[in-house]
Amino acid sequence: MVADRRNLVKAVADALRSGDSQDKALVQLLYQLARDAKWEVRQDLADILPLVPDEHFAVLAAQLRQDDNRYVKTATERSMERRRRTELEAERTSRGMAQITSRFESFAKRHGDTAAADAMQLSEEHLEMVGKEIAHDLLNLLTPLKEYVKSLQSVMARNQAGTETTAKIAEGLELLHHSVRDIQMYCEPVPIERHMEKLGELVRTADELARTNVKEDGGNPAAVTLSADVPTDIRLLVSRHAITKAFMNILKNAYEACEAKKGKRQISICIKYAADSIHISFKDTGVGLSEENLRKLKAYLPGRKNMNKKRSTGYGLLIAKRSIEAHGGSMDIQSRLNHGTTVMISLPLATEASEE
Ligand SMILES: Nc1ncnc2c1ncn2[C@@H]1O[C@H](COP(=O)(O)OP(=O)(O)OP(=O)(O)O)[C@@H](O)[C@H]1O
Ligand SMILES: [Mg+2]
Repeated sequence: MVADRRNLVKAVADALRSGDSQDKALVQLLYQLARDAKWEVRQDLADILPLVPDEHFAVLAAQLRQDDNRYVKTATERSMERRRRTELEAERTSRGMAQITSRFESFAKRHGDTAAADAMQLSEEHLEMVGKEIAHDLLNLLTPLKEYVKSLQSVMARNQAGTETTAKIAEGLELLHHSVRDIQMYCEPVPIERHMEKLGELVRTADELARTNVKEDGGNPAAVTLSADVPTDIRLLVSRHAITKAFMNILKNAYEACEAKKGKRQISICIKYAADSIHISFKDTGVGLSEENLRKLKAYLPGRKNMNKKRSTGYGLLIAKRSIEAHGGSMDIQSRLNHGTTVMISLPLATEASEE
């Protein structure tokens, strides 16, 4: 019966997942199922092709791609594309790992084995901590979703409308998507291409984006006064996208902090020159942070979300700090509860000649 053979494909998939891919009988079964008289069975097999070991994948994919049935053909093409993407990703990861290993070896040559071992230990500890926080963060988002799904199932079972619960699921999934995108951005390398950009323009674009973002979240940026004292002649050698995004995240936080407070609502951006760098401060008169919360925030780990906000992911400052440091700059925060916050950035000044 067809159903039996379709179940057989499922069992083959389970066996392949558990690592039995070299088993002779299993390989024979794969070829037999690829010639099955029923297209549904061949299509199921085409769907599980990405699990098949390399040497058999090529043969089976070539065969099923020529199948007379168009569903089998399409499923095979989809599997081939999935396989190609996985291979590309694996290649990229292994190239990245090889680069890290070679940089680590040259670090050990320059500074000695003990320093290299210490550095490795520290970086591993940092990675573990970041990884743990990320996983914890994702789980916190996923747990209520699972509960909503359960309750939706029981509502559906009683044949009643489940619109409220479905809306919560959609909202939760949207935030999850947002968070994962931010995590992705946080882990992505900062673009290395740099151009001389006008600081004034970067600040202006960042402010427009921040205002749009705050409005989208239901806020009113027009209630906050912004004063930006940026000399028009300052140009910096930066990745426009990364620095605009960093300023945007800082400004967005400043607008949100001001909105959450009564009384004077003001953001001031000030510039100061140093010998070979420029200091930019973003000062707001918002709610500020307690000493305890500022200390936690300065650990720069994921998960410091704003509970008052619907769409907080807690990655805004992490992304900003990372981008600024990738430009050879630094970021620091000072804050007083109920008084306001100042985010200070320094970026190196470069000459036109440094632009490639
Ligand atoms: N200017 C500020 N004033 C007061 N608190 C701030 C300020 N900037 C950041 N914070 C605090 O630091 C937390 C982390 O900020 P971050 O930008 O990283 O994430 P978020 O704003 O919560 O989320 P997202 O940026 O994704 O909207 C905020 O939730 C807020 O509590
Ligand atoms: Mg933010």
